[in-house]
This record gives sequence, C-alpha cells and structure tokens, in this order.
Amino acid sequence: MASTNNGSTFDLATAHFNPDTVAIVTGSAEGLGKAFAEVMLQKGVKGVCLADINESKGKETLEEFKKFGEEKVIFVKCNVTSESDIEAAFTETKTKFGTVNLLVNNAGVQNEQNWRLCVDVNVKGTLSGTYTALKHMSLSEGGDGGTIINISSLAGLIPIPYMPTYAATKHAVIGLSKSIMAHPTTKASGITIGVLCPSFVDTAMIHEDNVILRTESDRALAKGIQQQAGILQVSEVTDAFLTLLLDKSWAGKIMKISKLGGMQDQPIM
Ligand SMILES: NC(=O)c1ccc[n+]([C@@H]2O[C@H](COP(=O)([O-])OP(=O)(O)OC[C@H]3O[C@@H](n4cnc5c(N)ncnc54)[C@H](O)[C@@H]3O)[C@@H](O)[C@H]2O)c1
Repeated sequence: MASTNNGSTFDLATAHFNPDTVAIVTGSAEGLGKAFAEVMLQKGVKGVCLADINESKGKETLEEFKKFGEEKVIFVKCNVTSESDIEAAFTETKTKFGTVNLLVNNAGVQNEQNWRLCVDVNVKGTLSGTYTALKHMSLSEGGDGGTIINISSLAGLIPIPYMPTYAATKHAVIGLSKSIMAHPTTKASGITIGVLCPSFVDTAMIHEDNVILRTESDRALAKGIQQQAGILQVSEVTDAFLTLLLDKSWAGKIMKISKLGGMQDQPIM
C-alpha cells in the first residue's frame, strides 16, 4: 500500500532492499527481531546474521530461514552485554558475506526487579552495538557505510508508571541515537541512524507470565494502560520497520508506531 511522509509517495508492496545489504539483527531468535530478519530476507537482502543469547531458539530460527536459501542466514550466539560477543558477530558476518551495512539493535528485556539487567541489555547493549557498527561500517574505517536501526519504544517518549526502569532504558536509546546522529562524523562516515518506537506488540515480552514488575498491585495499572493503548500485531511493526528502512523520506528519523496513531514522525528537537 502506498503511504506518504513529507509529501513523498512510497509503495511498501514493491519496495526492495539493495541486493548488497548484509544485516545483523540482535535478539532475533524470536519475537520482533526474528520478524525483522524474516521480512528483510523476503525483500531481497544478501544475508542476515541472527545474533541472540538463546542458542536453541536461534538455531531453530536458522533452520526455519533456510527456506530463503542455505547461504543467506547465519546464527551467532551473542549476548549483547558482552562487547566481545558483538565484535564476534561482526567478524563472523563479514567473513561469511564480505561486509556488514545494516545493524538492528533489537535485543531488549523488561524486568523491573532485576533492573540492572534491563539497563545492561537495553542501554549498554545498544551503545555497544552502535559503537561496534560505527567502527566496522564507517567509510573512514574502510567500511561501506550503512544504517543502524535502534529499537526503542513508545515507553522511550512517555512516562510508564509501572515500568520506570524499562522506560528509562528506552528513553536512553533515543537519547544516545539522537546524540550520535547529531555528531558531524556520523554523517561523514556514511552512517544513518533511525529509531523505531513501537507501542505494545503481541510478542512473548508482554505476555503476563513474562512481565516482571516491582509489586503485584502494579499489574492492574499495567492492564489498564495496555487496554487503553491496544496491542499491535507483529506485521504492523514489520511494515513500519521496512518503511523506516526503505522509504528514503524516513531516513535518519524517529518513528512512532501505535494502534491509535499509526506511523508518526517524532521530531528530533
Ligand atoms: N513487545 C513489545 O510490546 C515491545 C514494544 C516496544 C518495543 N519493544 C522492543 O522490541 C525489542 C524486541 O522485543 P520483543 O517483544 O520481540 O521481545 P521478545 O522477548 O519476544 O524477544 C527478545 C529477544 O531478545 C533476545 N535477548 C534477550 N536478551 C538478550 C541479550 N542479552 N543478548 C542477545 N539477545 C538477547 C531473546 O533471546 C529474544 O530472542 C526489544 O528491544 C523491546 O524492548 C517491544
């Protein structure tokens, strides 16, 4: 379906990736990361590295994605809190496909009790991925340039009373992305950074058993807010993700996607 942003017209149905695109997607064994990897393969990328801490699920997804061609997908066990794991994902991807020109920093957790883990994965993991990508992809470092997509959340833009840690980490993802985007060397390095901020999405993360809050009484608050906001289907978020990547008028922007508002541009200033 054709959509417009800033007056330009974009047709997602016919849009395709440059066939030289090689992507690393963190947290892609399941959930949104897996779906992002799948739609990129459907839309013609050269190769995808599934980088996830969950080896068994990651290998299952690798097997499933062989339907796109045995040579198009690799799995690398990667804990994004480990800089050496992220470095290894880049090295293995470059060895297999010759380059990396797209990084999706998608791995994330929600945990208000083990809030240090939430900060480590969501903030340190995203910073670490972004810096590693700048090192490998920058034209000045011999890379091919490319795109970094950081997955934040609507929780990165508004208060979420029952999830202060998660909201803080997702605000941080926006702050770090905006700041690195604004640095003059980033553009000169041929790197564009985009940010995707989905509202609630139907993945394991929001299933009641997996939502870890500080008090049981916060559950009622969570339920009320979720009911008000509605729950996006994964396909609605993959459409937004592809639009952010393939519609040139969205390059380097912060996109909100919600049940109530659809795709919306979040001004950087
Ligand atoms: N589901 C939602 O409602 C929602 C809304 C907005 C934003 N997000 C964000 O989208 C991203 C994906 O979320 P999801 O809903 O698919 O979650 P999910 O729990 O379904 O999947 C998360 C994936 O990340 C992996 N992972 C966890 N810790 C990791 C680590 N340390 N290193 C590498 N991989 C790790 C998991 O193994 C899993 O494969 C997250 O950043 C999340 O914060 C989700």
